[in-house]
Amino acid sequence: MGNPGEHYQGYGPQAWLAHAWSSLARGALSARHGFHVGQLASVASDGEPRVRTVVLREVSSEARQLICHTDRRAGKCAELMARPRVGWHFYDARHKLQLRLQGDANVHLDGPLWRRRWQASAVGSRRCYLAVDAPGTPQAAWDSGFPAALRDRRPEAAESEAGQVNFAVVVCEIDRLEVLWLSAQGHRRLRFTWVPSTEGPGRWDGGWVTP
Ligand SMILES: Cc1cc2nc3c(=O)[nH]c(=O)nc-3n(C[C@H](O)[C@H](O)[C@H](O)COP(=O)(O)O)c2cc1C
Repeated sequence: MGNPGEHYQGYGPQAWLAHAWSSLARGALSARHGFHVGQLASVASDGEPRVRTVVLREVSSEARQLICHTDRRAGKCAELMARPRVGWHFYDARHKLQLRLQGDANVHLDGPLWRRRWQASAVGSRRCYLAVDAPGTPQAAWDSGFPAALRDRRPEAAESEAGQVNFAVVVCEIDRLEVLWLSAQGHRRLRFTWVPSTEGPGRWDGGWVTP
């Protein structure tokens, strides 16, 4: 089998930009894709950086959105509401492709998008939203945090609905995007910035930079 990234050799900036967004969209849809899981960075109230792994749940290239789910009691929710600036990092080792993105986060705690994302979430993965204490609560000894009735089994669909009160959707509107592809012939690096416009939808501006 050849190098899975070989076809990238002929890509120009617009092809790279389109490829970055379509790869993210595929990552959200497939757990086997290298971009299914990424790192989301924020700035905490003490000014320190915070970074954590999250599952990429939905992508819209038109709206420039990356969406993930979390528990509304998690530290990141308050952080993002106070300081919405975020960074995302993805690395697809198979294609030797790194994406770094920046944007503004909006935490949804109700509304149509929040309801739609809850309905799309798997019943099994809703168990963490049923945890009794907030994520990060100190414990005297190890404890899964699940309510006693759900310690040893997944919730039934009807039981899982109680987790919705703790469910949050983080929608990040991206305005910076950077691609790095590692190649023996010379790495490729591109940087794009979203330029808003009062007359139209705006455009991505950018191109090659020294790797
Ligand atoms: C593979 C993997 C996937 C994860 N996915 C999520 C996720 O989608 N949402 C989430 O809130 N936490 C997820 N986590 C846990 C976070 O990395 C983090 O530990 C947790 O959300 C607490 O972060 P916080 O204290 O910054 O809020 C995931 C962890 C791993 C290892």
